[in-house]
Amino acid sequence: DGNYTVTMIAGDGIGPEIAESVKTIFATAKTPIKWEEVDVTPILVDGKTTIPPDAIKSIKKNTVALKGPLATPIGKGHVSLNLTLRRTFNLFANVRPCVSIKGYKTAYDNVNTVLIRENTEGEYSGIEHELVDGVVQSIKLITYEASERVARYAFHYASENGRDEVTAVHKANIMKMSDGMFLTACREVAKDYPKIKYNEDLLDRVCLRIATDPSPYADRVMVMPNLYGDILSDLSAGLIGGLGLTPSGNIGRDASIFEAVHGSAPDIAGKGLANPTALLLSSLMMLRHMGLYEYADKIEKAALSTIAEGKHITGDLGGKASTKEYTEAILSKL
Ligand code: IPM
Ligand code: MN
Repeated sequence: DGNYTVTMIAGDGIGPEIAESVKTIFATAKTPIKWEEVDVTPILVDGKTTIPPDAIKSIKKNTVALKGPLATPIGKGHVSLNLTLRRTFNLFANVRPCVSIKGYKTAYDNVNTVLIRENTEGEYSGIEHELVDGVVQSIKLITYEASERVARYAFHYASENGRDEVTAVHKANIMKMSDGMFLTACREVAKDYPKIKYNEDLLDRVCLRIATDPSPYADRVMVMPNLYGDILSDLSAGLIGGLGLTPSGNIGRDASIFEAVHGSAPDIAGKGLANPTALLLSSLMMLRHMGLYEYADKIEKAALSTIAEGKHITGDLGGKASTKEYTEAILSKL
């Protein structure tokens, strides 16, 4: 029997409510997971706001974490602590599956794609300067090493998960050097995976095409620089019913952190209205990452059928259920 202690960061806003829902479901499903809850209220170190060392220590020790949303200041203030975590642990690949939920009606019922987002650099490098008054520079830093690493992860993921096509999403028509090099890295890695089809497409074109008809993107993996992945993952979430439904895994060599794609939703925080599905599906990615497939399958079946039945779904999905009522409907199926 393994060690199944996992770091839990409940997070800000709706974080504690959705984390509670996941913990209740895990307990009822009798998963062997033990939670180690850590406080990530930011502290000041050398004049910089950052994550408390105990939280970092816990993730280092457990190597797996489930994380709720952390509020990020807009246009000013400290570096997003979400990014601090991704960078601290070198979580180089952000895996974001986006799959239609059977029985839950949206414009399309055939969305089935996986976005893999470079997660450590690009537009998220955080290198910004004011050159002179009225002129600023935000640097998009791309390295061959990180591009190759995320490309290799994408091809490996595709071959392990029965997806036969990898598309690199880019704007190398404009960013000839940075995205151009990203593509060079993808092409090199593609040579090592002759059974996987490889192609390239422009980000804006992909946005138009997937919103018009998602079927050509089913069974594909799309790999792309950081910011493109951020944007395309929200767009894809919109196709299946919104951010209440899309999970993610931040994967590194020494640790992995699973989290919903959404933010802290301060407008509905504390009201018991939040949809915990995205965090729950993230926790199922986590269980599978740990080899605990049977628990993941069981919980997934209970959650997805609850949504399909539509009697106890949350407001974001057009229902009237509270977080608790939805959670209880899932529990009754376990
Ligand atoms: C996401 C979020 C984060 C990002 C924010 C909260 C920093 O939007 O995980 O997609 O921009 O990456
Ligand atoms: Mn985002």
